[in-house]
Amino acid sequence: MFDIDAIRKDFPALAHHAQNQLVYLDSAATSQKPQCVIDTLNRFYSEENANVHRGAHRLSQSATSAYEDARAKVSRFINCDINELVWTKGATESINLVAYGLTPHIHAGDIILISRLEHHANIVPWQQLAKRTGAVIKALPIDEHGVLKVEESLELIEELRPKVLAISHASNALGNIQPVRQFITKAKQLGSFTLVDGAQSLLHLRPDVKQLDCDFFVFSAHKCLGPTGVGGLYGRYDMLEMLDVFQCGGEMVTKVTIEETTFNPPPSKFETGTPNIAGILGFASAIDYLNTLDKNELRAYEQDLFDYLKAQLADFEQVRLLGDMNHNIGTVSFVIDGEHPFDLATLLDMEGIAVRHGHHCAQPLMAALNVNGTVRVSLAFYNDKNDIDTFINALTNTLEMIA
Ligand code: ALA
Repeated sequence: MFDIDAIRKDFPALAHHAQNQLVYLDSAATSQKPQCVIDTLNRFYSEENANVHRGAHRLSQSATSAYEDARAKVSRFINCDINELVWTKGATESINLVAYGLTPHIHAGDIILISRLEHHANIVPWQQLAKRTGAVIKALPIDEHGVLKVEESLELIEELRPKVLAISHASNALGNIQPVRQFITKAKQLGSFTLVDGAQSLLHLRPDVKQLDCDFFVFSAHKCLGPTGVGGLYGRYDMLEMLDVFQCGGEMVTKVTIEETTFNPPPSKFETGTPNIAGILGFASAIDYLNTLDKNELRAYEQDLFDYLKAQLADFEQVRLLGDMNHNIGTVSFVIDGEHPFDLATLLDMEGIAVRHGHHCAQPLMAALNVNGTVRVSLAFYNDKNDIDTFINALTNTLEMIA
């Protein structure tokens, strides 16, 4: 059984915040970390610290084994081969790596198709690729609530025959779960390269990359119970082989002369410089922790929490909810007409509620919705109904204050 009281005890920040009358509802920005992740970071720096792939001494050997074991663990978690997982700094760097690496394969007039819901990290690197190559960016359409128009999108993919389709699995700003599998199937029939931004989905949906059937899948550890500064890129092996190298330097090479270099096969071909070893081991501990929780029970618990929040918010006439409230990872974005999201978030903070406000690095989405920003409440499985009650109480007080 999903024991929320026991789970909350695994996250020391929650008890600390409770002492300070603070409720954390900003997990889409970054998740809290269980004690086992913090312990792994402490242990690495206090007992095990050494560089990887660089020494005969036992500390380096053991750091290297732990580092590669972490790769094996995370590969199993997303269901890919160990050689198909590249460590990066995060989802943003992973997308930049793919967009840069695809440069020789994209030509003037090619279409790069994204959606209007994307985070800037899944827009700007493609714009830069388009500038380098003469390709053209297009976006899948959304309705007035911020929900992707599925039939129109499928038709657009058919019509445009994009060279690249890059789409988020779940929207960071609205929480919508996108039907990416359908889009990937269609795009692949037409010969597109396909990338799924899994930054928001990894924790909530535990995607299986082979089932999604995308060529690339990107994620950040810190949104999935792990440390900041670590992320991953899954790439089908032949796709990783085909990509041009991104950042270059030591470790990624087999032979260097003054004139030229031969590169290692993937994933090493993309990993240069000393990686965030402690962070990667910490992320492996986060995955161990998640593996102790039943995926379906966790999802059912999160859904119940989301439904509870949605029902409570329905009582507020002024609150206008945006996004797909039927397929959602547990992120509620709302506006109150005439009130600035910054003011609302500041007043909520004074009431002890941590939420995010603003455009959520999704300005094209905000423009399409004709809002300057939203207030975003984002849940994770370590939240409980008390957190939501406290938020609803704080929102009531906030609305009274501004009335
Ligand atoms: N991308 C993170 C968010 O949406 C930071 O809050």
